[in-house]
Amino acid sequence: MTTSTKSNIFIVSILILSVLGCKNPKPNVKLSETVFDSKVDSLMNLMTLEEKIGQTAMYSGGWSVTGPTVSTNNKKYIKEGNVGAMLNVYSVKGTRELQKLAVEETRLGIPLLFGYDVIHGFKTIFPINLGLAASWDLEDIEKGSRIAAEEASAVGIHWTFAPMVDIARDPRWGRISEGAGEDVYLGSKIAKAYVKGFQGDDLSKHNTILACAKHFVGYGAAQAGRDYHTVNMGEGELRNVYLPPFKAAVDAGVETFMTAFNEVNGVPATGNSFIYRDILRDEWDFKGFVLSDYTAIFEMVQHGFAVDNKDSARLAMNAGIDMDMMGDVNRLYLKELVDEGKVDVAYIEDACRRILLTKFKLGLFDDPYRYCDEDREKEVIYKPEFLQAARHSAAISSVLLKNNDEALPLSSEKTIALLGPLVKDKENILGNWGAAGDRKGKAISVYEGIQEYLTDSKIIYAQGCDIETDDESKFNDAVIAAKKADMVVMVMGEDYDMSGEAASRTNIKLPGNQTKFIKRIREAVPNKKIVLVLMNGRPLDLSEEDTLADAILETWFPGTMGGNGVADVLFGTYNPSGKLTVTFPRNLGQVPIYYNMKNTGRPIPASNPHEDYKSHYLDSPNTPLYVFGHGLSYTTFEYSDFKLSAETIGMSDSLTASATITNTGDYDGHEVVQLYVHDKVGSVTRPVKELKGFEKIFLKKGESKTVSFDLKVEDLKFYNSKMEFTVEPGEFEIAIKGTSDFDFEHVFTLE
Ligand code: BGC
Repeated sequence: MTTSTKSNIFIVSILILSVLGCKNPKPNVKLSETVFDSKVDSLMNLMTLEEKIGQTAMYSGGWSVTGPTVSTNNKKYIKEGNVGAMLNVYSVKGTRELQKLAVEETRLGIPLLFGYDVIHGFKTIFPINLGLAASWDLEDIEKGSRIAAEEASAVGIHWTFAPMVDIARDPRWGRISEGAGEDVYLGSKIAKAYVKGFQGDDLSKHNTILACAKHFVGYGAAQAGRDYHTVNMGEGELRNVYLPPFKAAVDAGVETFMTAFNEVNGVPATGNSFIYRDILRDEWDFKGFVLSDYTAIFEMVQHGFAVDNKDSARLAMNAGIDMDMMGDVNRLYLKELVDEGKVDVAYIEDACRRILLTKFKLGLFDDPYRYCDEDREKEVIYKPEFLQAARHSAAISSVLLKNNDEALPLSSEKTIALLGPLVKDKENILGNWGAAGDRKGKAISVYEGIQEYLTDSKIIYAQGCDIETDDESKFNDAVIAAKKADMVVMVMGEDYDMSGEAASRTNIKLPGNQTKFIKRIREAVPNKKIVLVLMNGRPLDLSEEDTLADAILETWFPGTMGGNGVADVLFGTYNPSGKLTVTFPRNLGQVPIYYNMKNTGRPIPASNPHEDYKSHYLDSPNTPLYVFGHGLSYTTFEYSDFKLSAETIGMSDSLTASATITNTGDYDGHEVVQLYVHDKVGSVTRPVKELKGFEKIFLKKGESKTVSFDLKVEDLKFYNSKMEFTVEPGEFEIAIKGTSDFDFEHVFTLE
């Protein structure tokens, strides 16, 4: 039989199945899953064990390099039916070519999945994820990931390896830039928004892509902030802090999960059946499939957990890892392991079933090329409305950390000295994981953004220093520029690859001689306003900058339209509303530092922070430089009239807390109103504060609004020492504020 006759047989059998499934052309989700299940059954009946194993393998096409080089023979493996998915291949042409091999040259013609890291945009790049989180705007985050899905799906991509929902509390860790920050509640809401945006409401639509919750689990807790490092944590912390955003992703219908590189309590995550079988499948009833991280399966040998690569394949499959990214261990060893009785064939059947089910949901068996449409590729990439959305996201993600004497907004009347290594940058501005974004000219620099507001005669540009070198030869030109201008704007920060994967730092200050440069300018123009605009992928130690600059605007890496979005904020077209979702320490010695820490038995008294035998440092305050939830506006908001619907509630009641917020300043603006609770006594100690709700509101100057939060008893639950998810009666403190920096004044009792 020729290959094409064989694939025809398959197509015929699929056609029969499709007809069977067509009784109800618009089935609801449940029904359609049932229909797909029977299609998967029929297909699996035709498959050999080798073909089933083939579905569990993923290889890289090498268009982007996202891990160590491993030599593979992709086209040969595809034709042999040994590949289920590819990563790092995109474009209609590129994906079509490989898809054709799978569909036309294998016995059963099963289509491939194409995955890619679409982390904060595909072509149109949005601010890095830590920046997006700072907008506290779930609708905007969902919209941004919807746009990313529109663009990626138009070039043959079915699947993004996002969102990264790892809680991260250590700024040394470069991947803090890829997540939503330090908070469990906010991180969980944001996880849902990403999943909804990428996957939409119907995976079979050609403009939706699979999401992937990663890295399961504990990756953000790497010791000393060093990437891939060891993670040790009690099950209570795992369940109370690190698991909830993943559970939220499951609740939002996320289709896939990715493993973490780290070990958790001595067992690498990628071989950890407690995590994948007991929690993800049994407790959470996750129906999708699990992908290993890049070569993470055979890395279990280096971890000292697997004897050799073959053993790593055994451990991973038994632990519940359905697909191997780039390790090539499933193809090489799984069949042998089954023959030797070391892997139960039922695990491979289950993995293959889950992967095929996903392919059916995407509609790839109806049309394997449905994501390969040249017209759509041309029409969708960099659509003007996408660029506009990216500009808006850049503006709403920016956080005004400091603004003395109304240094901002800028006036179009004044001449500014525009200084620093990132003023004209079009490369770093995209941030790490820039996907297919264009680093060679498409992005709008801050310089260009400012040109929309100021005539060239009012801008005096001088680079002054580099990002990382110690070269001072350009300082002087910048001093001259600063002296000529009315005020100074300095655009400084990190290189884009100083954060992201394998990009940990032991020093979280501005790199190179940037701080020295700022000092030099401050000395040269002691009476002129200096505005510092920052681009960076982690909380930095800004203690010195805070004393030197009049205003500091944190713009993260703001993306393709970053220059416009940032200029909109600088000139007040958009009144900044971003709030930090991660704490900025005063110094590295305070790390890890986050707002919802525990109290200890010897907390420092407010009246005497230096009291002996209390929990403090000899050489630094305990408090950070900028707290979680902090972010200024050009206007001011006053909080008043806090009310609770009851002082005491029962186990089946709920409570309403409300406060009135008034815009008391001179600009219209948005405010992120935050609800915090403190469970005062628990059978296991509870954090000093926990975010339990937020609402972003818009108030015209002078306007007031009452914001109410309904708090359910369910919202107060936590895992106790027996790992029961429970709520305990007692007193709770509660507050509604615009920052996490406050002392509680109100209490309610749960009986
Ligand atoms: C990263 C993942 C990423 C994968 C594929 C790995 O090195 O840890 O987050 O999705 O590469 O590029």
